[in-house]
Amino acid sequence: MAIGAVFLIVLIYYARGGDAASSFDPDSPLSSLKSTTALNGDRHIYAAMLDAGSTGSRIHIYHFAKSEQGILRLIDEYFKENQPGIGAFANNSEKAGEKIQALLDSGMPKIPKGQVSSCLINLFATAGLRRLPEKQSNALLDTVCKYCGQHIISIREVIKKSPFKKPKSYVSILSGDNEGIYAWQTLNFLTGTLNSSNTEASYGTLDLGGASTQLTFAAIDEKTLKKFKEDIKTDEVLEQKFRLFTKSYKDMGLKVARVKVLAANPKSKDGKFVTACSPSGAKFSWKDFGVENNVSNPSDEKYGFEECMKEVKNYPKTDKIEELKVRKAYAFSYYYDIAVDLHLIGAKGGEIDIQKFYDAAKIECNKPKRDHDMLCFDSVYIINLLTEGFGLDLQSKLTIGKKINEFELCWALGATLEMLGE
Ligand SMILES: *[C@@H]1O[C@H](CO)[C@@H](O)[C@H](O)[C@H]1NC(C)=O
Ligand SMILES: *[C@@H]1O[C@H](CO)[C@@H](O)[C@H](O)[C@H]1NC(C)=O
Ligand SMILES: *[C@@H]1O[C@H](CO)[C@@H](O)[C@H](O)[C@H]1NC(C)=O
Repeated sequence: MAIGAVFLIVLIYYARGGDAASSFDPDSPLSSLKSTTALNGDRHIYAAMLDAGSTGSRIHIYHFAKSEQGILRLIDEYFKENQPGIGAFANNSEKAGEKIQALLDSGMPKIPKGQVSSCLINLFATAGLRRLPEKQSNALLDTVCKYCGQHIISIREVIKKSPFKKPKSYVSILSGDNEGIYAWQTLNFLTGTLNSSNTEASYGTLDLGGASTQLTFAAIDEKTLKKFKEDIKTDEVLEQKFRLFTKSYKDMGLKVARVKVLAANPKSKDGKFVTACSPSGAKFSWKDFGVENNVSNPSDEKYGFEECMKEVKNYPKTDKIEELKVRKAYAFSYYYDIAVDLHLIGAKGGEIDIQKFYDAAKIECNKPKRDHDMLCFDSVYIINLLTEGFGLDLQSKLTIGKKINEFELCWALGATLEMLGE
């Protein structure tokens, strides 16, 4: 990955001013960011990244300031999301286009008028679309609907007609590998740990999406480099080279795992899902990817933490990775949401060990009445993915969060750095 080496000669990251108090413990290295605003003489750069994800579409508009010395700082970000993801409109590309148009409309006023035409824009669709047959996902991005009159309809058309600056390719499906690499770059950029002379300082990233899950870390151990040769990519960012282990595990996302695990159990008499992760007699439905899923447990169904563990244990089909145990790791997306739901962390995130997850899941799963229908399943899935899947211990520590100094943690910033450097 040739990440803007010329442009990003020295890239020092400062968080936005004002409310830049860190989300974390003041002793944590994550808090050591200075805050600043743009200085006189800085050139202002805006860039927009659209994320067509499996559960929603998002726009990120990044505002950078580049100094005369070529130092780039991230000043501000505008973020907006709408749901469901465009994958839910597989046969209705008009609706998908409207969703993207709404995001562009909301973001446009955030950019100074004179800067819109130089604001680069790009859209990446992620796992939700990777799961669709290629013909359908391409149709969704490309096809101009025949029945839509004068409306702008396909996603590619929506972006083509927008006043933003378009690079050569501006609508595509993001590969799982690049999704993981970009997220890793984003995180380590924001924490100031992109330093190839001190690779140990970098964080590995654990990203749990709806359809797939990504794991990326800078591999140092020769055993890792040898054993996982296929999954090692050379990454060049800020003129520094890293060897990254990166892998996107298809169908290991939380929402797909729910359905796959439950589908493997015998069904109820009326053809609905039965699960030991919900109390006996539980009846509920939830909707993902446009499909309504129904649970109907018999009144004598055995349930609870141990039973749920048995049900979920064999699902994560991933490789145990020894080196991960000794590296710093940062978990976000659904790892964060579930940890918040279990009251393990506050909204600002924090560091916990997996044992804490385990203890909280045990309490949740043994409750005869639940506030959250799937929280027991989700937390047990996460424990199994981390331990049975990736090979972490219950003592392994994770930093869990959603934002660093108000900046959203996702692949979009890393992808934006690449777009700007091209
Ligand atoms: C979309 O259409 C295809 C073929 O016309 C069909 O096989 C598929 O099930 C449809 N998908 C949805 C989500 O409606
Ligand atoms: C990178 O790490 C090395 C070794 O710890 C250190 O000497 C150097 O100052 C670091 N560079 C930056 C830019 O932080
Ligand atoms: C769940 O129930 C709804 C309403 O009865 C039905 O439309 C849907 O097909 C069911 N879902 C599955 C996966 O069977």
